[in-house]
Amino acid sequence: MEQTESKRDWYKKMSFYQIWIRSFADGNGDGIGDLYGVYDKLPYIKSLGVDGIWFSPIYPSPNVVFGYDISDYKDIHPDYGDLDQFKKVLGKAHEMGLKVIMDLVINHTSDEHPWFLESKKSKDNPYSDYYIWRDKPNNWDSLFEGEAWEYVGERDQYYLHIFAKKQPDLNMDNPKVRQEVKDIMRFWLDMGVDGFREDVINFISKKEGLPNGLFFLPAAKGMSHYKDGPHIHEYLSEFRKVCDEYDCFQLGEGPMTTVKSAMNYLTGPTKSLDMMFSFDHMMADCLYTEYLHRPFSLVKLKKAFTKWQKALDGKGWNALYMENHDHPRIISRYGSEHFHRESGTMLAACYLFQQGTPFIYQGQEIGMTNIKLMSIDQYVDVSSITNYHTYHLKEDPERRLHRIHLSSRDSARTPVQWDDSENAGFSVARPWFYVNPNYKKINVAKQEKDPDSILNFYRKCLELRKGSETLIYGSYNEFFPKDPSIYMYERCLGDESYLIICSFSRLPVKPKKPEKYKGMHGELILSNYKETGKFFKPFETRVYRYKNK
Ligand code: GLC
Ligand code: CA
Repeated sequence: MEQTESKRDWYKKMSFYQIWIRSFADGNGDGIGDLYGVYDKLPYIKSLGVDGIWFSPIYPSPNVVFGYDISDYKDIHPDYGDLDQFKKVLGKAHEMGLKVIMDLVINHTSDEHPWFLESKKSKDNPYSDYYIWRDKPNNWDSLFEGEAWEYVGERDQYYLHIFAKKQPDLNMDNPKVRQEVKDIMRFWLDMGVDGFREDVINFISKKEGLPNGLFFLPAAKGMSHYKDGPHIHEYLSEFRKVCDEYDCFQLGEGPMTTVKSAMNYLTGPTKSLDMMFSFDHMMADCLYTEYLHRPFSLVKLKKAFTKWQKALDGKGWNALYMENHDHPRIISRYGSEHFHRESGTMLAACYLFQQGTPFIYQGQEIGMTNIKLMSIDQYVDVSSITNYHTYHLKEDPERRLHRIHLSSRDSARTPVQWDDSENAGFSVARPWFYVNPNYKKINVAKQEKDPDSILNFYRKCLELRKGSETLIYGSYNEFFPKDPSIYMYERCLGDESYLIICSFSRLPVKPKKPEKYKGMHGELILSNYKETGKFFKPFETRVYRYKNK
């Protein structure tokens, strides 16, 4: 179905660039990315053709989970600058026509947040009910660090943490907590930010009585009692009202949400989010850990894409992504480091032309790849470390480390490779984390000079998308869903259609032509090879335009 535009829907035409600041660009020479670096790189971001930035958390944080453990919601981490520098970035971004979206992490705080420091002191202080305390733990697992409960002597009680130990879950059933959330939203909206990416937002309402959970997935016992919980839509509608006072959008991260329950967030009377990051397509091989690892299946990936595209068509709107700070790099994952340029460009076309608002993660636009560290001790991501010490313990350490190479979030968190100078041009000082040794080959400066680079291909895709109502609003259809090496989809509006063909194969393949296009001649609009023939070369992609079908 074709989509129509309504007033608030400015985000539908846009695309966004995600900054995970610590590894983006170091502007003050201490080895840590910061807002000074971001300021300097705004022209670069703009040059990609994106329309906005999503900042992963830049607030004060002990950084046990790199910013997702917040100790002050209304300030900037001193490593990254201060509020004045943030306002400077925001002002400049707006001047350049870039929107700015903040990460709103309200399922939990850091255990160093003043609310928690108070809460844990006693059962009768003003913050005692800000968190979820029990005399006896239930059987829930945390997703990052063993059991979901941690004992505190002062209260002689346990607090719930669905993620790391240092991320206690807030008690959203407490109206005071919801009031705090609304204050935080207003604080940033009043400053001028344009919306929020809402962290694990489908987890914030827990089932009354916190009943024991059944085995669901490894490390997810209990999930059915907090995923899409009983009061979720009620609470989100309160937050929505705040956003309604401003011209902003809300994008929810929805781990493990099915498309069916996503509809309740994105459409109808309970609509409280404009878009959602779904996880279905991340399950085509591994997710966070390799405990679920299986060989990558294109058919599964396509099925997930098409499921969301079809379900939301004409009813809601998709957020499109392939990479972010939580997943390994896509070339290493779905493409080929050997066919680096080819697979990096093909992976761009495979999602940027779907219906939805695209997100590009820092470094994705130059095809950064997974890092292979020599020892688990060099990894810093809490979930990678836990996974290494929890799963597949019967295997030898080398094999387990290999699993981490394939699945770690740290691969997406190495410093951005700006040029071939020392530290990849990320910093004049020694960077806080390892630079991928391939930076001399893979870097922004080099790809700027090459018209056929991955970087310039991303630019072409975004330009093409932006200039075409069909690619923005047109309907989506997939062809040959069972084909194990070709992903083929069309976007149609009025008498125009685009056919996007992506080969995931290292070998030459000859895609079939869909019945409806037989005998028609399409204009080749974009491709990642200079010469195109009947056969598709390794990881070849082509975009055709058809008129008057
Ligand atoms: C989300 C974030 C992830 C974080 C987790 C816990 O999944 O994207 O980075 O670790 O929530 O806050
Ligand atoms: Ca710095």
